[in-house]
Amino acid sequence: MKNYRIAPSILAADMARLGEEVKNVVQAGADWIHFDVMDNHYVPNLTFGPMVCSALKPYAKKPDGTPVPIDVHLMVQPVDALAAAFADAGASLISFHPEASGHVHRSVQAIKSKGCQAGVVFNPATPLDVLDWVIDDIDLILIMSVNPGFGGQSFIDSALRKVEAARKRIEASGKDIRLEVDGGIKADNIARVASAGADTFVAGSAIFGKPDYKAEIDAMRRALASV
Ligand code: DX5
Ligand code: ZN
Repeated sequence: MKNYRIAPSILAADMARLGEEVKNVVQAGADWIHFDVMDNHYVPNLTFGPMVCSALKPYAKKPDGTPVPIDVHLMVQPVDALAAAFADAGASLISFHPEASGHVHRSVQAIKSKGCQAGVVFNPATPLDVLDWVIDDIDLILIMSVNPGFGGQSFIDSALRKVEAARKRIEASGKDIRLEVDGGIKADNIARVASAGADTFVAGSAIFGKPDYKAEIDAMRRALASV
């Protein structure tokens, strides 16, 4: 089996008990914590900022103390100052939407200069062209399989073609770049997404919307084992 990662999105967690939710989902087997940052400007919703990220950081730890990476997905415009603030708040990976940055290459450098891994995110109707110019500098490609802004939406099938195209670009680059998919992922479609070439899976409502987080994550891993 490939080195797959499951990244539960705390957007779907109980916001009144976020620390406990992060701890519980880590205990249930989360590989990363996906942190959706929305600004009511780039997307029509508003979530949490760097203060919440640093407050949750101590909870993103396995029982033996190993830190679990915080995967920050910025849906904000502009990008650079908030990216730096999230780096200071303990993010491990920071991804942004190229449409939200006036200077995509500069934003990538701004993230990397703070010691974080950098990712670019593609909306359902955004072409991958910008990769022609930044693939050598990034650590992660995030393909949106819903329009950003809300959890609980249905998976958009054209994302599968985009995942395939992104996988080809990663192979051609020869670089070790994670290929993550975000939106509408569940145990019953995760294998299809993995077959298209993804190795990292965001899931919000499919995990936090259910009573037993471990059962959901285990079901996803079982589905991935069949790929
Ligand atoms: C949407 C967010 C997603 C969202 C996924 O803007 O980027 O991470 O939380 O939620 P589900 O898994 O419920 O589609
Ligand atoms: Zn996200």
